[in-house]
Amino acid sequence: MSYKLLLGVTGSIAIYKSLYLLRLLQDEGFELDVILTPSATKFIQPLTFEGLLRKKVFIDFLDSYPAGSDHVDLASTHDLMVIAPATAKTISSLATARPDNFLVATALGFPPERVIIVPAMEEGFWNHPATQKNINSLKGYGYHIMEPVEGRLASGKTGKGRMPEPRDILEFIFEVLTPKSKKPYTAIITTGPTREHIDPVRFISNASSGKTGVLLARELAFRGNEVILVAGPNVPSFSHRLVRRIDVISAEEMFNAVKEHWHKADVFIGAAAVSDYMPIEKYGSKIKKDKDLLTLTLKRTPDILKWVGENKGENQVVVGFALETDLSPQEAYKKLLRKNVDIGVYNRIGNDFVPFGSDYNSIVLMTRKDFKFFENVSKEDLAKILADAIENIY
Ligand SMILES: Cc1cc2nc3c(=O)[nH]c(=O)nc-3n(C[C@H](O)[C@H](O)[C@H](O)COP(=O)(O)O)c2cc1C
Repeated sequence: MSYKLLLGVTGSIAIYKSLYLLRLLQDEGFELDVILTPSATKFIQPLTFEGLLRKKVFIDFLDSYPAGSDHVDLASTHDLMVIAPATAKTISSLATARPDNFLVATALGFPPERVIIVPAMEEGFWNHPATQKNINSLKGYGYHIMEPVEGRLASGKTGKGRMPEPRDILEFIFEVLTPKSKKPYTAIITTGPTREHIDPVRFISNASSGKTGVLLARELAFRGNEVILVAGPNVPSFSHRLVRRIDVISAEEMFNAVKEHWHKADVFIGAAAVSDYMPIEKYGSKIKKDKDLLTLTLKRTPDILKWVGENKGENQVVVGFALETDLSPQEAYKKLLRKNVDIGVYNRIGNDFVPFGSDYNSIVLMTRKDFKFFENVSKEDLAKILADAIENIY
């Protein structure tokens, strides 16, 4: 879905980041308009924004704009307004509903829930009781405030007040645009590979990247759910206030983390590519290459999904992933049903397609009601599809 977004830019030194934010928003397919405050134009010429935007920016009440784009129309024709950077002065004007320029007047035309404010200022400005009072008022009215971060400030000092990086602002925008779960829940997600060590330097593993589980954690958290992310080695980092991450190496460690938390969770999503076998013994030191033949004896690792299914309470939901080369979706789902799984995700794998590490996947979403086929869908969209399927039965 393409959103219409109005980017508001005010007179802060952090304005240089707005140009990059504009680019990122364009890359993501947002339809954009830009408003600069008169003081913002002293920092960067409107021409730079217009060059990227390929249309006129809005600045002053008295300028002539195309019909249908006065400050009231802009509020009704855009889904969201993002003010980044937002100065202490603009924040104060908004908090007191004082429309002293075109940007503030336009922002006041939006319902607060459709405005994101990204403050940027010196630490002293930010910590000032009057600024904090204004921020609290704006939060109370329903505005979305993205807190500034600690870091280097324009003055050269380090402190809280720095505007977050454009990529993080983009993530915040996606979060605000994500519809919230009606009945929020706590989910455990396992993701990534596991490693079963043979000796201190060698191990049995697979090429799973963990992307699917991380994107699922992101989607569920954006919907307002709590997530316990049990991540195998080398899973990409992701941080969110609702996501608690537990890093593990082996299948046994993953099993222990799941056993410890399952009783306080509502949903389990087993997206990890857990090793099925582990060496019976781990050598204490690196195995020497002094033999032509070396035999390793392996034993089964714990079946995490089976344990979760066996210990499933009445209202708990279990999602199991199946990666199969020989079984049909029907056969794979039968196997999952035996483990008390509610939703199955069948990963197709063959010589022509391996989902590991890719940003896309082809899956069959299997529920007791029906099977749905998704071909070459981004893992981000698959996270949304799976989150919807969970909400349908939870
Ligand atoms: C070099 C320079 C950097 C500034 N940076 C900031 C800033 O980061 N945050 C802020 O709140 N004000 C900052 N100001 C002050 C604002 O530009 C000033 O309050 C202005 O009136 C803001 O107007 P506006 O919010 O309508 O754009 C800065 C001023 C100058 C000269």
